[in-house]
Amino acid sequence: MKKRLLNHLAVSEIGMGCMGLSHGYGGIPDEQSSIDAIRAAYDAGCTFYDTAEAYSPLLQGIGHNEILIGKAVKDFRKEIVIATKMHANVEENKSKGTYRMLKDHLTASIKRLQTDYVDLYYLHRVDRNIPVEDIAEGMGQLIKEGLIRGWGMSQVDVDTIEKAQAVTPLSAVQNIYSMLERSSEEKVIPYCIEHHIGLVPFSPVASGLLSGKVTQNTDFSHPDDVRKYVPQLSSENIAGNQPVLDLLAEYASQKNATMAQISLAWMIYKYPNVVPIPGSKNKGRILENLKASEVVLTKDEFEKLDGALNAIPVKGFRGHVEFQGGSMSDWGKK
Ligand SMILES: NC(=O)c1ccc[n+]([C@@H]2O[C@H](COP(=O)([O-])OP(=O)(O)OC[C@H]3O[C@@H](n4cnc5c(N)ncnc54)[C@H](OP(=O)(O)O)[C@@H]3O)[C@@H](O)[C@H]2O)c1
Repeated sequence: MKKRLLNHLAVSEIGMGCMGLSHGYGGIPDEQSSIDAIRAAYDAGCTFYDTAEAYSPLLQGIGHNEILIGKAVKDFRKEIVIATKMHANVEENKSKGTYRMLKDHLTASIKRLQTDYVDLYYLHRVDRNIPVEDIAEGMGQLIKEGLIRGWGMSQVDVDTIEKAQAVTPLSAVQNIYSMLERSSEEKVIPYCIEHHIGLVPFSPVASGLLSGKVTQNTDFSHPDDVRKYVPQLSSENIAGNQPVLDLLAEYASQKNATMAQISLAWMIYKYPNVVPIPGSKNKGRILENLKASEVVLTKDEFEKLDGALNAIPVKGFRGHVEFQGGSMSDWGKK
């Protein structure tokens, strides 16, 4: 697969979001099928895997997803980029200091991942009670120690990125971004391009909606299914966003591709620093999403698609949300 740069980190043009293998999209697959899926993604050219310390069933406990990835990638760990995320806790920050807090979380992640270093270490959510400059300084120290190769933040605006960037330059920003969540286009993506920061879109197929496979009858009732809190997936908004799905269906049929692939090919064409990390519990869909890298839009096709998209109002826009305290199990609702 073609490669892209998140600052100096070379990754496959499409990565694999591993969250759903542990949390967030209903029941989780058995461990062996998750491991097989991760290995199949590697065989298909994926060299970028996204996880977080928080990804565990119901967000209770720590590290289920990191342990899984550690097992799956141990034979090819050096060939890939592992991104994981830490949750900064105000009390812990106060008692230990920011650097020590970061290092303790990182050390635990490194152990679970069965490795010696993390390639890309994110602050999962900004908490306004912990200065982002302190986080940036601590991350800079971890880079100097060789424990991480680069760092990033998730769900951030340009003001926050600028403050952090002035202390320790970032490799990547991970924000929600898809055809239905485009607020990062206004300032964040242009800033990131200018400063050689990668933009890693999470929920790039809008939690499945852009695949055309989610309907008003899809069951989100499982206790660990965050889709019940995603505004675009309310019954009303699934119907309201049908014009975007119709547009994708039209291009999918023209290009002999799937709707999910067209939505991913659109963002890859649009920006040189964007590396989406679609997630799925299903090996076939993971491979389908990775193959979006082979769907080549012409300039004319892209412009018509983008122009048509611009003309369609989005229903249930979520926007970027910062963590403002509360318990981990509230995250999925934010
Ligand atoms: N930084 C953050 O705060 C944050 C937040 C959320 C997610 N993330 C990261 O971003 C990754 C991706 O985000 P996400 O999982 O929320 O959203 P997503 O990739 O937009 O969508 C995942 C959902 O879409 C379905 N899906 C994916 N590809 C499909 C296809 N080709 N056809 C049909 N259905 C398809 C999956 O269903 P099946 O599983 O049934 O196939 C799953 O329900 C996560 O794995 C995680 O690593 C980060």
